[in-house]
Amino acid sequence: MHSRQQPLHGNDPARAVEAICDHFGRDRTRLMDIALEVQRRLGHLDDDTVDLVARALDIPRVDVKSLVTFYTFLRHEPAGARTIRVCDDVVDRHQGGDAVAAAFEDELGVAMGQTTPDGDFHLDWTACIGLSDQAPGVLVDDVPMTNVTPWKARWIVRELRRHGDPRRLVRELGDGNNANPLVCSMVRNNLREAGTVHFTDRREAESGLRMALARDPLDVIDEVERSGLRGRGGAGFPTGTKWRLARNAGGGQRYVFCNADEGEPGTFKDRVLLTKRPDQVIEGMTIAAWALGASEGIVYLRAEYAYLRPYLEDVLRRRRRRGPSRRPPVPPGYACRRSWPLPTGTASTATSCSPSAGWRAG
Ligand code: FES
Repeated sequence: MHSRQQPLHGNDPARAVEAICDHFGRDRTRLMDIALEVQRRLGHLDDDTVDLVARALDIPRVDVKSLVTFYTFLRHEPAGARTIRVCDDVVDRHQGGDAVAAAFEDELGVAMGQTTPDGDFHLDWTACIGLSDQAPGVLVDDVPMTNVTPWKARWIVRELRRHGDPRRLVRELGDGNNANPLVCSMVRNNLREAGTVHFTDRREAESGLRMALARDPLDVIDEVERSGLRGRGGAGFPTGTKWRLARNAGGGQRYVFCNADEGEPGTFKDRVLLTKRPDQVIEGMTIAAWALGASEGIVYLRAEYAYLRPYLEDVLRRRRRRGPSRRPPVPPGYACRRSWPLPTGTASTATSCSPSAGWRAG
């Protein structure tokens, strides 16, 4: 079975934590990155480790403890070398998720929420992981597994016991950019029909950005207001009004956030947009940045989509390489950040998570 991550500096957690905090410049806004790396090295963040991190960053221990106990992907207790998460939302249950969970339990010999006695596996439920169009969905660490059956669940465990590498479970790649080597996932986009706005191939790449950059930012806001465009997050707030309010707000630095932290049961639209049209996502953010006078943008990526991070960072790199002469520029501060799932049963919104709870690309 896959061996556990060897601790840094032998068995000295204090030195390991110090080294990790040094690596991140002891920057308290990088707390999520630091916690993630400490967990990767030490397996979990117990009370002693929480104290070490708090001391190294010179922040109250409650800041660290609340982070570790709030996000389900961070572990306060020891857990297995591999974590298998089975979606327990309604879509998956209708698609046979309970039988899948039972097969995992039987094959591993533990119940949901438990770790195998050899420490190789931790098995747990999770809320929607953005695979609702191909449920039952399962995450093995950060590798998504789709259309899982009881037979496939047993096969996953047996394969992992043999070689320990979740990426080797992906035999068939999904369509679109899911087949990109940097994504390399079995997830499919499941697009049946391209509309006139989304997924159409008739649109000239970057044409919206070129038009926006040729105009005054206030004209861009006027145009967006006239278009009637509204947010798709549920409230349907008029986008032009939001942009005008943001532009007129006091203060200096402005940011554009892309909330890629969808988590409501049955959803997967953001996953499709990110994998099918990442350039359009960045283009839209850049138009917003021009209109608002923002110089930094952040893609707030949920932990369940961590496998998309290298791909999205590559999109940003490619756009930067293209350079200002060919437009569009990506403002130098643009970064991917990773968000973390809220505890099961809690609604997930971007505003419920601190912007500091993530990592910057590069
Ligand atoms: S993946 Fe299970 S409800 Fe979305």
